[in-house]
Amino acid sequence: METSDKYMYYHGLMLPNVVHTEESLKYARTFKVQDEDVFAITYPKSGTTWMQEILPLVMNGGDLTPVQTVPNWDRVPWLEETRAALVLNDRPSPRAMATHLPYHLMPPSFFTCKAKVIYVTRNPKDIAVSSFHFHNMASFLDDPGTFDQFLDKFLSGQVLFGKWTDHVKSWRNADIGNRILFVTYEEMVQDLNGVLCRFAQFLGREMSQEVLEKVANHCQFSNMKNNTMSNYSLVPQDLMDSSKSPFLRKGTTGDWRNHFSPEQEAKFSAVIKQEMKGTGFKFPWDDE
Ligand code: A3P
Repeated sequence: METSDKYMYYHGLMLPNVVHTEESLKYARTFKVQDEDVFAITYPKSGTTWMQEILPLVMNGGDLTPVQTVPNWDRVPWLEETRAALVLNDRPSPRAMATHLPYHLMPPSFFTCKAKVIYVTRNPKDIAVSSFHFHNMASFLDDPGTFDQFLDKFLSGQVLFGKWTDHVKSWRNADIGNRILFVTYEEMVQDLNGVLCRFAQFLGREMSQEVLEKVANHCQFSNMKNNTMSNYSLVPQDLMDSSKSPFLRKGTTGDWRNHFSPEQEAKFSAVIKQEMKGTGFKFPWDDE
């Protein structure tokens, strides 16, 4: 595997040094998950930041204060990142967290508690496109090379948190019964109100029609793009250069069509199909 001073390797997964350390991973490994905790779990570029906006609002009855005053990385911290130890210890229950960890790397207490999980899956072709642009704007990641070169890295898992197929299989096979809700990024784009209702029901939260519409409106792409607590504009430009590509870039489905050649599409689809063979999982983009 390609090595770089920008990454560390954790159980074979490539993680950026800028937010991961031996200590942060030890913290995640030994974290005491509580029954009331809620996790937004994603493979990178699947809608994590969107979930960091949605979760607090669904959990607190639509109070906009946290999403307007606390940066997303402290509001719904990543369990495996360095901020977690700084913000989670004193946080009252119920806590909302994010993680990109695969199922088997969750802390032992996770498997025996009642904490709930919302797992967001996104079309891997759109993830690859989103990730490619992210690599171009984030100086703490390697230069992605050409789009063709980046697709090869993506398919072979030489990208953040390894292969998309491994991540999706690990969580789709999670043995935690009805503690997990699966949703796709595509469903969120198509019918955010409907998805918010599902989240509220799953998390046992009441939301009036008025609150639901307020939350949906706040979490629209165009509004989140203007929220300095969520659009990464607080990060110095030498780390994330939004003039190259904004973090909240397009927020659409199917942008892969503007990037993939027919040959790239055929190869990409064949590899994903082969690796998902026999799993029985069906996704909205399978027959595109
Ligand atoms: P694009 O690069 O395709 O625009 P993550 O937060 O997991 O890194 O995912 C980032 C992707 O989610 C980006 O995709 C980003 O624009 C998209 N995203 C974030 N907030 C969104 C929203 N409110 N609506 C739609 N897409 C959103």
